[in-house]
Amino acid sequence: SPTELQEILGFTIDLARKAGALILEGSYAIQRAPGPGSVGEKKNAVDLVTEYDVKVEELVRNEIARAYPHFHFIGEESYSSGTRPPLTDSPTFCVDPIDGTTNFVHGFPYACISLGLIDQRVPVLGVIYNPFLEHLYTGVRGAGSFLHTHTDTTSTSTSTSTIGVPQRLPLAPASGRPLPALAGALIAVEWGSDRAQDPIRRKADSFSRLSGAPPHGVMAHSLRSVGSAALNFALVAQGALDMYWEIGCWSWDVCAGIVIAQEAGGFVTGSKDVPHDGVVTEAILTGRRYLVIRGVAGTSEESSLDVQKR
Ligand code: IPD
Repeated sequence: SPTELQEILGFTIDLARKAGALILEGSYAIQRAPGPGSVGEKKNAVDLVTEYDVKVEELVRNEIARAYPHFHFIGEESYSSGTRPPLTDSPTFCVDPIDGTTNFVHGFPYACISLGLIDQRVPVLGVIYNPFLEHLYTGVRGAGSFLHTHTDTTSTSTSTSTIGVPQRLPLAPASGRPLPALAGALIAVEWGSDRAQDPIRRKADSFSRLSGAPPHGVMAHSLRSVGSAALNFALVAQGALDMYWEIGCWSWDVCAGIVIAQEAGGFVTGSKDVPHDGVVTEAILTGRRYLVIRGVAGTSEESSLDVQKR
């Protein structure tokens, strides 16, 4: 019910902030003492994992189990190490403990925790928190999405900062209108960690076409690779990005972002073989291609990107 969701939202925000403190501690520790063993590799040398990804996931999983023992849990790190619970109709938290692990390791301040809740296979609640900038994004199905930014309670250096007054997304009403054209848009395309030739070629082709390459190029204002799928969704919801497209996402990267972007009036879709129409299926867990656009409808120029719509 709406009241239950608001209660779960309060719990999830507190949890995101606790996790955020651990993420900051970890990032600073790794930058102070980068050493053998502090950063591990998963499928290849650029798919990074740290002891903090695992620690943050443990913290989150334990707190959820204590507060909501009947909820199921899907997390990036436990999934990677083989714990793959089947997706059911039951409430399921879908969590990326540190989205943007490469940024986290390098101290590039765009990494976050992404906490999504799926109910009856529909993402219904999302919280994305970037502790480096103290930007906290929330979304609840049917109740809108918001950005809570950092506020200093006093101007002294000893002040404790808090997460401040929520602002409804998109921040500017014009960002809620359909994107008229890709020309003039600010578009995120991520490189990701999959260095197989095919996805890299598709991404490079998209970069090239969006910079205006003939014969079918479109001149976007510019392209960005922020390094975190969840933050790209949040930035589209905010209206700071017009569009985000990627091959290579997992459900934990996008679950919270789907709610936040859709509640801000954004349009989210998957690829032709793994469409996303708001319902999460097993295929979504392994479907890797997503497009999110500000405004309610897509544009006719999406063929400039390697995106196939249903
Ligand atoms: C990755 C980041 C990256 C995106 C990948 C994600 P991780 O998540 O969001 O920007 O390109 O698709 O898997 O590995 O940092 O949790």
